[in-house]
Amino acid sequence: MPNTAPVLDLKEDILRLKKEKNAIILAHNYQIGPIQDIADYVGDSLGLAYKAQETVADVIAFCGVHFMAETAKILNPEKTVVLPDKDAGCSLEQACPADKLEAFLKENEDKNYYVIAYINCSAGVKALCDVICTSGNAVKIVNLAPKDRPILFVPDENLGQWVIEQTGRQMDLWKGNCYVHVEFTQQSIQRIKDDYPDAVVVAHPECPKAVRLLADEVCSTEKMIPFCNNTPAQNIIVVTESGMLHRLQKEVPDKNLIAGPTDHCACADCRYMKMNTLEKLHDSLDKLEPTVELPEEIRIKAEVSLIRMLEQSK
Ligand code: 13P
Ligand code: SF4
Repeated sequence: MPNTAPVLDLKEDILRLKKEKNAIILAHNYQIGPIQDIADYVGDSLGLAYKAQETVADVIAFCGVHFMAETAKILNPEKTVVLPDKDAGCSLEQACPADKLEAFLKENEDKNYYVIAYINCSAGVKALCDVICTSGNAVKIVNLAPKDRPILFVPDENLGQWVIEQTGRQMDLWKGNCYVHVEFTQQSIQRIKDDYPDAVVVAHPECPKAVRLLADEVCSTEKMIPFCNNTPAQNIIVVTESGMLHRLQKEVPDKNLIAGPTDHCACADCRYMKMNTLEKLHDSLDKLEPTVELPEEIRIKAEVSLIRMLEQSK
C-alpha cells in the first residue's frame, strides 16, 4: 500500500510554528545555511544580544551555542528560550568553570581585579565578573575599564592578547582558547596566500597571534561583512568557522571568498555550532524544549555585567 500521508515541508512548518508560538528565530553567523536562511536575524554575539534584548516575541528559538541562548535568557527571564540542541557547547566556556574562577579570585583578593569576561562563558562566570565583552566590542570595553585596577580577562587568551596589542593596556589572561581557531597555523594560511598572492586575509581574533599577523583585518564575524564589501581586493581569504562563508556569499556576492583547498583550509567547522539542524529547530518550536533555565540569583548577577556591556557598547 503506498504511503499517502502528506510530506511535511519542514521550512513551511517552522514558519507556521513560529507564528503560532509568537517566536523569533535568532541565528549566529556560524549556523548551517538553511537555518541562516529561515532566521529572523543572523549576526554575531553582540548583534544577537541586542536583538534578544529588544524582542517582543514570547519565544526565542536560539540557533547558536548554549552560552548565546543563555545570554538571551539572562536578558529575558520571563520568555521561553529554546536551543535546538542542548549539547551545543563551546570549548571556551568549558575552559573556565565558574568554581575555578571563583577560587582564583578568592586566592587573589588582594589584587582587586576588574574582571572582563568574553561572552563565550557560562552565566556562572558572567555573574562573577564586572563586565562582558564580545569580539566586536572588546577593544572599546577594555578602553573603558577603570585605570586604577588590574584587569583579569577570561576565558580567551588569544582574544585577550589581541586586545592588549590594540589598547596597550596590560591584562592578566585566563588560559582558554577556541578549539576551532587555534587549529589555523601560520604555515597553513601562508600556503593559501602563496596560491593567491593578491588576496587579502580577514581573521577572527580568536586565532593565534602567528595567524593574526598574516591578516589584513582582524575582527568579529559581523565586521567581516563591511570589510569584505569595502576592500578593493577581489580575492579574500576568510579565516574563521565555515558557516561565515554562507553569510558572506549572500552579502558580498561579487567577491571571491577563499576557504582554501581542503588540505590547508582557512575555514573549519565548529562541531557545536553544527549540532543544530532544521529538524531540531522544528522540534524545539513544536515542543518548546529543550529550554534554557538558570537560577535566579545567578541570572540577576549575570545581567548586571551584561547590561553594563550593552550600555558601554552603544
Ligand atoms: P562573534 O561574536 O565574532 O560572532 O564570535 C563568536 C564565536 O563564537 C567565535 O568563535
Ligand atoms: Fe566556541 Fe570556538 Fe565554536 Fe565559537 S567556534 S562556539 S568559540 S568552540
